[in-house]
Amino acid sequence: MKKKIVILPGDGIGKEVTAEGKRVLQYIADSFGHEFEFEEGLIGHDAIEKTGNALPDETLALLKKSDAILFGAVGHPKYDNDPTLKVRPEQGLLKMRKELGLYANLRPIKLFDELLEASSIKPEILKGSDILFFRELTGDVYFGEKGRKDDGNTAYDLMIYQRYEIERIAHKAFQAARTRKKKITSVDKANVLESSRLWRETVNEVSKQYPDVTLEHQFIDAAAMKLIQNPRSFDVVLTGNLFGDILTDEASQIAGSMGMLASASVGDTVGLYEPIHGSAHDITGKGIANPLASILSAALLLDISFGLKEESETVINAVEATLKNGLRTIDIADAKTSSDKILNTSQMGNQVILEIEKVGNRQVAVGRDL
Ligand code: IPM
Ligand code: MG
Repeated sequence: MKKKIVILPGDGIGKEVTAEGKRVLQYIADSFGHEFEFEEGLIGHDAIEKTGNALPDETLALLKKSDAILFGAVGHPKYDNDPTLKVRPEQGLLKMRKELGLYANLRPIKLFDELLEASSIKPEILKGSDILFFRELTGDVYFGEKGRKDDGNTAYDLMIYQRYEIERIAHKAFQAARTRKKKITSVDKANVLESSRLWRETVNEVSKQYPDVTLEHQFIDAAAMKLIQNPRSFDVVLTGNLFGDILTDEASQIAGSMGMLASASVGDTVGLYEPIHGSAHDITGKGIANPLASILSAALLLDISFGLKEESETVINAVEATLKNGLRTIDIADAKTSSDKILNTSQMGNQVILEIEKVGNRQVAVGRDL
């Protein structure tokens, strides 16, 4: 298979982790006889410094011609503490989502058993958790009208949804639910917000086409509580942009660490794959960031954009095997991890590649036996 992949490292640890994700993709291509052509684009703070624009036109043009995108992270502390800056790294990400029509953000929260102890939640509550979030990604307060009035003393961000925006992501979530436990929890705030009442009405309407899937509704505040109280009670969660942003960070604790979570953003055109963690400037340049979320994003890319199921599973199994060997980056280490098992970013990438290599060798060996 011949494919064009754009790597968007972005800011902070984005550069360090996508380097490992890319290496894994290259290794998979070599082992399975595919040809992946990589190109790099600018986005975020890095792009602002070089071009004055958080998502330069050249980057957008490159993305539109690609078959899939592996993205790192955007953000810089300089902007977090100065809300008056007009050009901001996050604008690059939001514009990219909107321009590419990436309205469905899939965030699988799956706990690797080896990491049960790494979470701040009790292992007996976590064990067996497996949730797939569908976060709407191109609507809501993120893209509604925003502004200031009364000499800057009043600010607003309009929470707005149109029926078709809810319908299209609801269909994706119901279709996914059919391949899982046939249960969806739709999360909103319909007791207060009109946009949530439209959300609930539309999801109920769509659900009629999926009589085999059980639908329940929860308010965002209750869902936030239940997620920690009983994560196993969730399977597919369908929610809006802002609620999904918050709930999925919370849910990352179910998987042990933000450093483990991959996401896929899909919609009308090319798919985008990224860790759910941010640019983490506190650890940037130290070489200690966990690359597994980027590597698992690469696995999602292989599966969802290219339909390469075996290759994708090979990557996921290699990550699992690495964890089984007791190897950890610092964020997923616990008190019992000995210092020789704590790896830096590229060592972790190497280990995953070594595990992929073992699978490859096994396949060759089995072939010879026959
Ligand atoms: C995410 C991030 C982004 C978001 C930021 C960086 C704009 O938190 O992808 O979850 O809020 O969507
Ligand atoms: Mg977020």
